[in-house]
Amino acid sequence: MSEYTLSVTTGSMLHAGTFDNLYVTLVGTEGQSGRTQLTGAGLGNDTGKVASFSVNTVFTIGCLLLLQVEKDPFHEYKDEDWFCSSILVRTPEKDEVFFPCYQWLSRGELVVLRGGRATKAFEDMHPRLENQRKQELVQQKLTYKWDKYAEGMAYVLSIKALRRIPTEASFSFSKAAQFAYRQNYAYDELAEKGLRYSTEHWKSFEAMKNVSWFTRSPHLDMVSQLWKNDDFFAYQFLNGVNPYVIRRCSKLPSNFPVSEDLVAPFLDSGTTLEKEMEKGNVFIVDYKIMEALPTTIMAGKPVPLTAALCLLYLTPTKKLMPIAIQLGQTPSKDNLIFLPSDSEVDWLLAKLYVRHVDTLHGEFVSHLHNTHLTAEVFAMATLRNLPKIHPLYKLLIPHHRGTLYVNTMARATLYGPGRNLDNTSLSAEGQLVLFRRTLAQLTYDSLCPHEEIAARGLESVPNFYYRDDSFRLWNVINRFVKAVVSYYYPSDGEVLADLELQEWVNEIFNYGFLGKVSSGFPSSLQTVEELIKFVTMVIFTAAPRHASVNMGQMDFLAWIPNGPLLLHRAPPSVKGNATMDDLLRTLPNKSIGTLAMSLAWFLGKKYEDFVPLGQYPKHFSEPATLRMIEDFQAELSAISETIRARNKELELPYHYLNPKEIENSVTI
Ligand code: FE2
Repeated sequence: MSEYTLSVTTGSMLHAGTFDNLYVTLVGTEGQSGRTQLTGAGLGNDTGKVASFSVNTVFTIGCLLLLQVEKDPFHEYKDEDWFCSSILVRTPEKDEVFFPCYQWLSRGELVVLRGGRATKAFEDMHPRLENQRKQELVQQKLTYKWDKYAEGMAYVLSIKALRRIPTEASFSFSKAAQFAYRQNYAYDELAEKGLRYSTEHWKSFEAMKNVSWFTRSPHLDMVSQLWKNDDFFAYQFLNGVNPYVIRRCSKLPSNFPVSEDLVAPFLDSGTTLEKEMEKGNVFIVDYKIMEALPTTIMAGKPVPLTAALCLLYLTPTKKLMPIAIQLGQTPSKDNLIFLPSDSEVDWLLAKLYVRHVDTLHGEFVSHLHNTHLTAEVFAMATLRNLPKIHPLYKLLIPHHRGTLYVNTMARATLYGPGRNLDNTSLSAEGQLVLFRRTLAQLTYDSLCPHEEIAARGLESVPNFYYRDDSFRLWNVINRFVKAVVSYYYPSDGEVLADLELQEWVNEIFNYGFLGKVSSGFPSSLQTVEELIKFVTMVIFTAAPRHASVNMGQMDFLAWIPNGPLLLHRAPPSVKGNATMDDLLRTLPNKSIGTLAMSLAWFLGKKYEDFVPLGQYPKHFSEPATLRMIEDFQAELSAISETIRARNKELELPYHYLNPKEIENSVTI
């Protein structure tokens, strides 16, 4: 008789426990145990609890390979899913084998768990392990199927209904409940105040200040005071919610005819635009990608969307200031170049159209496409191609948490025909065209911050906190990934020999980037170095990059004039006539303005089950890897401290890339 001791850990989230019974079967190299009941292992209403059980075998089962776990299909109480975190098995030889699970089990469900060291396929020496590995991937590929969302777009999860998403990929109960509460609360408050369906225009800026009784932030209050200021307008291109457009300008584009005379009053005395461009003090934001997009039809005609250009100057006091704005790509006498010396309303209107196009660009290009949809491709490829025992699965799965669910929810409610964002300037058709253009332009380098910042010529711009924090985070993530990957892949030959890994990369290339070689995304990986960079990019996209565009939405965009998703009137074609009332009538009306506000409220906030960057459920058992995770966490803490100290000196703290504020994955 041999005795195995099992420590069964139930998850610590809401409703993780169950009254049902469980059965386990230990599978070894020489045989398997009987199907053994663990009475009450689900621990009732207790969560986060560890329960111990014994499993006895008459004959030896040899070296322990697998653990089958079943949830009792016959218990008299109503069905309750059980979240099994992990099972630690102590063998008769006093060895400990850790089996991570981290999934919900429904009544009648059976899962086969693998424990012990992470392995690549060619390291599995027992036919039972080889077979289990293959079976797991067959099942995963049946569960997570690719779907062609639209021509020219990345593929997505084929499941359309949220309730059909496997529980392992769903939101937790607490998050789903909190999300629904916040959404309903926001909509109810707007309805209560007669704002939700009102097509009236705002009578004053003051009236926008008290839209929400409770959903406020000190940062948002500051934005409502600063939004008219030129320096704050420029600041947002570096440290706002869309720091991905501004670039150094060494030569004016031919379609932006800004003459020396025009901007001379806004430059330092004794210098010229030409000289300042040579010195690297001139910058540009150019929204060409937004040109001629189909827009929403209101009152029988399409609402305006201006593919603006804005020139900025870095003053000798190191302040970035806008010096010229053109609200369309084609120069003409009707396409005016607005200047800071124009009337207050004209200049404010010009900046408003830039904020409008920047907000749409930020949400659809930088946020939805370049983080949410891109991260979905990574998550799908991992779930389909890497078995749970694979070292890269263990490394990456925490960075895919919630991504498939939140994106399915976004497709059902946020973008596409008849969805919430269909009420913005971009019609559903316009959204599709923009997504296609974005993917056509997306490159591997553009998702790697050092290359991306260099390509925009922004290496030495002062007060560029997004860049500084991104570089810190990339470097620390890269060091961590290098340690883990080098441990499991001691040579380039092992990278080449890992066919699961190669298929993972190949699916990302083909389904995410449509097999386009010019994108620079690899279709295979040849070396350990290439693998390290690729995995770093995957984690960086899911965590810091998403945080940079998501977490500031509440602060910057919930103030309607700073984050307008629709403008009702076209830009002026002559200067000097517009009034402040014209500006108010240009802004989104009450229902559209407050819709954007409410989206910022419940999408741009932390949720209770927030997991910060670098905090992982235990997937690895190897002490060396666990030490690497601890080192990673220590480095992230040091970055947090650096950012906290820096922010103490700033009027507007930049905290979106503080590791404590970054979620591990795209999950909201
Ligand atoms: Fe997001």
